[in-house]
Amino acid sequence: MTRRDLARVAAIELNVFGRDAWPLHAFRDLLAAFSQARPVRGAMWVAEDPRTGELLGYAGVEVSALWGEMDVINIAVAAEYRRRGIGRLFIERIVGLCRRRGVPLLWLRVRASNRGARRFYRRMGFRERGRFQRYYEDPAEPAVIMAMDV
Ligand SMILES: CC(C)(COP(=O)(O)OP(=O)(O)OC[C@H]1O[C@@H](n2cnc3c(N)ncnc32)[C@H](O)[C@@H]1OP(=O)(O)O)[C@@H](O)C(=O)NCCC(=O)NCCS
Repeated sequence: MTRRDLARVAAIELNVFGRDAWPLHAFRDLLAAFSQARPVRGAMWVAEDPRTGELLGYAGVEVSALWGEMDVINIAVAAEYRRRGIGRLFIERIVGLCRRRGVPLLWLRVRASNRGARRFYRRMGFRERGRFQRYYEDPAEPAVIMAMDV
């Protein structure tokens, strides 16, 4: 992901997550923080159609301060491009980064009601490890914590 992608990333984010959507500046600030940090603090990617240049989705991961784990901070594929393996490619990219950096644990939070994403993550090898009660608002609901040993 680069600054040039931000408007398109924010448009997909709004479409997919509505009231939960991150504003454009959240992506911009994180991108700037990640690009300057040494050692690496995180990474964000986009998937683009090589023929048309259309942005199909994006994903990001953040390294914990102590280097023992990475946290999937976002992943989304535009609705019309789902179930074509793009989400899987993002997870493979994230797992590859974990392995190269010697990070043994990858985890994430997902809305309890987001059954499609929970199934996707299980299929990718994540297991449900617990819940944060009252984590999300509007509507209020728990976050399911999922993790994978990489
Ligand atoms: C979750 C998400 C990123 C998956 O992306 P994707 O590109 O559609 O995923 P893939 O095509 O790589 O799916 C790989 C496998 O995961 C499983 N899977 C993916 N989406 C699924 C769904 N909605 N329901 C059940 N299983 C699903 C399937 O087994 C799929 O393989 P198959 O299509 O051969 O059956 C996408 O659905 C999305 O953007 N959802 C909205 C945003 C979101 O909820 N993000 C997570 C927030 S924590």
